[in-house]
Amino acid sequence: MLIEADFLVIGSGIAGLRAALALAPFGRVAVLTKADPSESNTGYAQGGIAAAMGDDDSPELHAQDTIAAGDGLCVPEAVDVLVGEGPYYVRELLEWGAAFDREPDGRPALGREAAHSVRRVLHARDATGREIARLLWSRVSQTAAIQVVDDASATELMLDDGICRGVSFVTAHTTGTVAAPQTLLATGGAGQVFRETTNPAIATGDGIAMAARAGACIADLEFVQFHPTVLSMEGSPRFLLSEALRGEGARLINGAGEPFMERYEPAGDLAARDLVARAMVREAERTGAPVYLTLAHLDPDFVRRRFPTIAAACAHAGLDLATDRIPVSPAAHYVMGGVETDLYGRTSVPGLVAAGEVACTGVHGANRLASNSLLEGLVFGARAAEAMTHGVLAGTCRSDRHDVRVPAREAPCPSVHEVRDLMWRHAGLVRTHDRLEEAVTHLGGWASTVLAGRMASSADPEARRLASIVTVGWLIAGAALRRTESRGGHFRADFPSHDDLHWKKHVADRLHV
Ligand code: FAD
Ligand code: SIN
Repeated sequence: MLIEADFLVIGSGIAGLRAALALAPFGRVAVLTKADPSESNTGYAQGGIAAAMGDDDSPELHAQDTIAAGDGLCVPEAVDVLVGEGPYYVRELLEWGAAFDREPDGRPALGREAAHSVRRVLHARDATGREIARLLWSRVSQTAAIQVVDDASATELMLDDGICRGVSFVTAHTTGTVAAPQTLLATGGAGQVFRETTNPAIATGDGIAMAARAGACIADLEFVQFHPTVLSMEGSPRFLLSEALRGEGARLINGAGEPFMERYEPAGDLAARDLVARAMVREAERTGAPVYLTLAHLDPDFVRRRFPTIAAACAHAGLDLATDRIPVSPAAHYVMGGVETDLYGRTSVPGLVAAGEVACTGVHGANRLASNSLLEGLVFGARAAEAMTHGVLAGTCRSDRHDVRVPAREAPCPSVHEVRDLMWRHAGLVRTHDRLEEAVTHLGGWASTVLAGRMASSADPEARRLASIVTVGWLIAGAALRRTESRGGHFRADFPSHDDLHWKKHVADRLHV
């Protein structure tokens, strides 16, 4: 099957859909999406979308919070774009009919989340992503120039003389190609690389792996954000318990029922995510008991009204969100690194742009501020579309370059579960040289096998999943081994401090296959 288009968008989350809408007036747009069109990280987003829209807020204050969370590595120009253009694109969503919660006077209600100095998170109860996806899909389905191809997994970017000309894909029944002079990668994150994750099954990092195989610069992959509060019950899915719960007053308590965060961090329950996650692990180790979230001191009617989706998930697990203590533990949530881009999404490969979680604009630095990701998809999705209408240009690799060669030694591949388990134990919340080195050795051998066997293009979905998880896991573990300091989401027990002299910088991997 051959599909010809003026613009190809791979992925149907917030970044891909916003870009597709911006591209439609300029030509035929093909949107390729791996599963059911609504399946994306976007659809699961809970807390909301941050934008400086309150009377006590400003883009400057939003920038300040974003840069503080990014722990020394935010690219300031990217932050200025995000916070400066963000309110325009969020107002546009409101004009299009986004059913965000409102104050009695009609203004958008603003929620609070960790490391934000003011209330600035617009939300639709606790299912903000579902509402945004509904809205974008309703517009896409009314736009004749956009053709959506669902249940189609992009497998390899097609390069002609180093220029991206489209992509090959597989469906359950056939294979095909989309030929287009401009391709946007909007394939989202890679949480599934880890055993414990908030991300849905689609988030296997396919876009990062594809771009790496095409020779694009992949920056900052060691920076993975682990969300502290995920439902932790034997047999229950790892359901996210939004940070907005703590924004509204929920407390973390230990097994004896004592709040403990202030003992570890001055900002207490609303400290940055990496700090909260590690404090929880330390408290659980200290007490030998699990850690819980409690909302029992809040008005139960308010809790159930404000957080209906989370309350329903807890009820499914036999817990009452308003009155029971809820067992929680951290899980991989968001990848700050990805395909390196400039401020218009241009990658180091001509004809290939990237936006959303798959991209690394540098806007999040070493750690993302809560609710900045939906905003990033919106703002940089639209900007990537603008670049695409201006022709084929490459961005530059702004980071220090590191060449990665595939080991000659191939090793028989394990199961997807074994890889994810290894990543969780060896490249998770607390990392050390020895464990990372062991992971890199195993993953390098497996990466060699999946690349030599062209498993990324296999007709078998499990083989494709394994190919992405191994490739991205290998790059994450390698980057984490290289960075001999701790910063943001990357914590090395053997190098627990910042090392600004050597490491206040970005590093981009360039894979040679
Ligand atoms: P996604 O929304 O993940 O979309 C990626 C798309 O690419 C999907 O359609 C997928 O099917 C497709 N795709 C992937 N691989 C392929 C392939 N090989 N071929 C074809 N298609 C492919 N952020 C916030 O700002 N606020 C929040 O409140 C918030 N809450 C969150 C809650 C949860 C549980 C999770 C998991 C994340 C949350 N985040 C939140 C993060 C945020 O949702 C994501 O970072 C953001 O939605 C990413 O958008 P995206 O468009 O880049 O990718
Ligand atoms: C949450 O609701 O806690 C997730 C918000 C985010 O990841 O930005």
